[in-house]
Amino acid sequence: MQDIEIAQLRTITDIIKKHYNYDFSNYAMSSFKRRIQRILEIHKYSSVDVLIDKLSLGDTKYFKEFLSEITVNVTEMFRDPTFWKELKENILPTIFANNRTVSIWHAGCSSGEEVYTMAIVLKEMGLLENVKIIATDIDTTILQKAREGVYPLKNMEMNIKNYQRYGGTVGLEKYYKEEGNKAIMDKSLVRDVTYKEHNLVTGGVFGKFDLILCRNVMIYFNQQLQNSVLKVFHESLFKYGYLAIGSKESLIWCEIANKFIVVNNEEKIYKKVKD
Ligand SMILES: C[S@@+](CC[C@H](N)C(=O)[O-])C[C@H]1O[C@@H](n2cnc3c(N)ncnc32)[C@H](O)[C@@H]1O
Repeated sequence: MQDIEIAQLRTITDIIKKHYNYDFSNYAMSSFKRRIQRILEIHKYSSVDVLIDKLSLGDTKYFKEFLSEITVNVTEMFRDPTFWKELKENILPTIFANNRTVSIWHAGCSSGEEVYTMAIVLKEMGLLENVKIIATDIDTTILQKAREGVYPLKNMEMNIKNYQRYGGTVGLEKYYKEEGNKAIMDKSLVRDVTYKEHNLVTGGVFGKFDLILCRNVMIYFNQQLQNSVLKVFHESLFKYGYLAIGSKESLIWCEIANKFIVVNNEEKIYKKVKD
């Protein structure tokens, strides 16, 4: 497999911008390159020029598939169990102490396991009826999977382990039924969830929230894009609202860091303290 040059990656991001109006120029180029390499392998393209030619055709159906392949959709229920434990024990009780109804935004929700996790945590706290959840992603194919809430049964093994490590006692099995090799989630959990296409690069602010989760998404963005997305989150949060990011991500160095305080450094949970 030939190496992909930076100039070729730039050509790809330029074509995508011109033909499809998506801007990947501020994605972290190392992981973007790995994804392009993966696409070449999957489709057995002989060179990156084949991909460039295909993208140049302006075929939106082809681009939809490309978008799904370029984004990293890996996720699981109760990912980082200690994070969910902290949310249950400290963060959610504080938010609900001050609000009757609570609004939550899952930015980059992927296939929806994070949303089901939140719904299960809230249900077990007896608070599910008091929330409005918006779950967004750039990738409409993965959003459709989130809406369906049907997962490979083999994934549930890991999800159950995570749930137990989180301290769940009811049993994750209670929230889905098995059909063949699939786990069909209990849809009543997500009755008050709205799934919506939203691109963090261009989508801007569309509501106000008490809690925003954007976990394992900004890791794929360069510093400039992280800064602009964090500004969108800051504006989208009520004062004293919470922002949770991925365990390998940080807010410390960003331009608006002084408008947040660190609530839990291990779990990467921050609180907006200044408008
Ligand atoms: C690795 S998944 C993270 C899923 C979940 N938050 C978690 O932590 O398990 C990253 C998600 O971010 C989405 N994403 C990537 N770029 C995005 C953008 N510009 N706007 C919105 N979502 C984006 C991808 O489509 C993917 O579903």
